[in-house]
Amino acid sequence: MKTKDVAPSLEKIYKNAGDFLPLNGTDYIELYVGNAKQSAHYYKTAFGFQSLAYGGLETGLTDRASYVLEQDKIRLVLTTPLTSASPLNDHLRKHGDGVKVVALWVDDATKSFEETVARGAKPFMKPVKEEDENGFVIRSGIYTYGETVHIFVERKNYNGLFLPGYKAWKSDYNPAPTGLKYVDHMVGNVGWGEMNTWVEWYEKVMGFINLLSFDDKDISTEYSALMSKVMSNGNGRIKFPINEPAEGKKKSQIEEYIQFYEGQGVQHIALATDNIVDTVTKLKSRGVEFLQVPQSYYEEAKLRIGKIDEEISELAKHGILVDRDDEGYLLQLFTKPVEDRPTMFFEIIQRKGAQSFGKGNFKALFEAIEREQARRGTL
Ligand code: FE2
Repeated sequence: MKTKDVAPSLEKIYKNAGDFLPLNGTDYIELYVGNAKQSAHYYKTAFGFQSLAYGGLETGLTDRASYVLEQDKIRLVLTTPLTSASPLNDHLRKHGDGVKVVALWVDDATKSFEETVARGAKPFMKPVKEEDENGFVIRSGIYTYGETVHIFVERKNYNGLFLPGYKAWKSDYNPAPTGLKYVDHMVGNVGWGEMNTWVEWYEKVMGFINLLSFDDKDISTEYSALMSKVMSNGNGRIKFPINEPAEGKKKSQIEEYIQFYEGQGVQHIALATDNIVDTVTKLKSRGVEFLQVPQSYYEEAKLRIGKIDEEISELAKHGILVDRDDEGYLLQLFTKPVEDRPTMFFEIIQRKGAQSFGKGNFKALFEAIEREQARRGTL
């Protein structure tokens, strides 16, 4: 497999991407959770998300409750079933808390559905028009890997807070934001031998292009390995790296995820900030737990990275990782899983020119994950 550290020319590559599915950005990310009320409290308290909207019995929903949170351009929806009859329970029982919907903002949800289904997508939801006094929204959806779905959201004729069926969520408890701005990328874990199937699926069904590839030589430690390919849409606003386990002496972290998620799913959501030191300081003070690399990482980073705006000692103090590519550098840090199952986690990222994904950190990072796996007895 050919390994490219940095894409030769992003513009050239993007130009070749399909234009039958124009995407304006990530619309929302919906997690199915065991107790949405309590999860919402966690995301407000720990991550600084703000209360935006609520849907439930009070707004005419009979089988579920959903809390919508926002921080700058990021919208999270936390949904829990209200009765045992709800099909949401099947998802929850199998996967635990996790991402069900990666919703994409489009100008035409009907065309998005038709174009992708014609190219082989499995339908999840035919185009549906939902309306209230603020106008109407059209949504449609298709399955991607596992039981995860993409919902296309057309909201050009809507000026309500979120979607019809939701009301404003006014809360007296409003912890300050932590500086999180937008979704930088979202990573999917797929099973053995499945990465190229899903790379081809994103190419064929959604017109994405393969921006970067990492093979098991790039991403391996003494014990375990994985492979990864980064898929991007035509304007570069949507980036979905896809991971597959690779053979190693011990169990790949991707295998561990698939074992506990009981299938393929979203591994991590990368959220961008303009000031990672400030954001991470706030997140830590509010109880968000991060992976730790040894201090020796920073000795090596000094040599590897060269001159940057931040003091390496400051990064070391906060445990922030740094990597460089031809276009600049990036700062990043990864949380521990945010559920009891070792499944989904978050990445906090600040880009300073670099458009890559921190290849230089993979080894240090995965060794940190392995230390956690060893503690769980799942390495
Ligand atoms: Fe990432």
